[in-house]
Amino acid sequence: MQYNYLNGKFLYKNESKISTEDRGFNFADGIYEVIAFRKKNLLNYSRHINRLKCSLQSLKINSPFKNLSSLHFILKYLIEINHIENGFIYLQITRGSSERNHLYSPKLKSNLFISIFQTKNFSKYKKTGVKVITSNDIRWKRCDIKSISLLANVIGKQAAFRMKAYETWQKYKNYITEGTTSNAFIIKNKKIFTHKKNNYILGGVTRDAVIEIIKKKKIKLVEKKFSIDDAFGADEAFLTSTTVGILPVIKIDNKKVSNGKIGSLTKELMFDYEVYLEKQIKYE
Ligand code: PDD
Repeated sequence: MQYNYLNGKFLYKNESKISTEDRGFNFADGIYEVIAFRKKNLLNYSRHINRLKCSLQSLKINSPFKNLSSLHFILKYLIEINHIENGFIYLQITRGSSERNHLYSPKLKSNLFISIFQTKNFSKYKKTGVKVITSNDIRWKRCDIKSISLLANVIGKQAAFRMKAYETWQKYKNYITEGTTSNAFIIKNKKIFTHKKNNYILGGVTRDAVIEIIKKKKIKLVEKKFSIDDAFGADEAFLTSTTVGILPVIKIDNKKVSNGKIGSLTKELMFDYEVYLEKQIKYE
């Protein structure tokens, strides 16, 4: 039996119910985080918490926590009672429940929902690399907020699936912003390019961690938008997210990236990122 956490209670999955007046349900008025854990250790935890705080503040959603340190205990307990070793936390906070009205009371009590799911196996993709397609970025201009309003991302991801690709890289004025569920990187002449952190992309936790690794290795990093033609002419390409870590990209819009094989620098970073995560695990 799977347990969730809803507004202060650990409940069976089929008992965790929320009002149809939840503003997340009616307006997608909420934010979320997806946090990975391995051997029951939460990974990149402080980065996720910092982003969570930013998302709440940006939307002026009241925090459901008196003290954020209580969240760590809740997550650890949820992992324990679900008997999952390796997986992901889905955490959602909506502005709260009230009669449907675009206007809201600033005093509204937010709704906190947390569920947990097992790690999916992406090893095949890591070995073969993945294809991405591109399409226009039709999202709003506050992509830096990890909002649960994901309709444009859903449409983009489904379009990729239809084309037997893993991801859609979104374009704004012919420049790649990011994927629908991941950040986008290309490598040219040993320089790594990725969109800078601003309102056009979500500042990915994995992106930030990988950038930390890149900087430590003294590899040249350019945080600047790159065009679709830059992507077509890249030596290597990859994408990052909490759920997959680093995935090599071998085809963009059906054109091979370089020779269509996983690049050597990408392989190196994949290895380094594994080491980076492994260091966060405490073995008892
Ligand atoms: N998606 N960009 C977008 C639009 C995303 O939705 C995500 C993550 C990322 C990568 O962020 P991070 O490295 O912090 O996971 C970038 C999550 C995993 C999801 O929606 O399931």
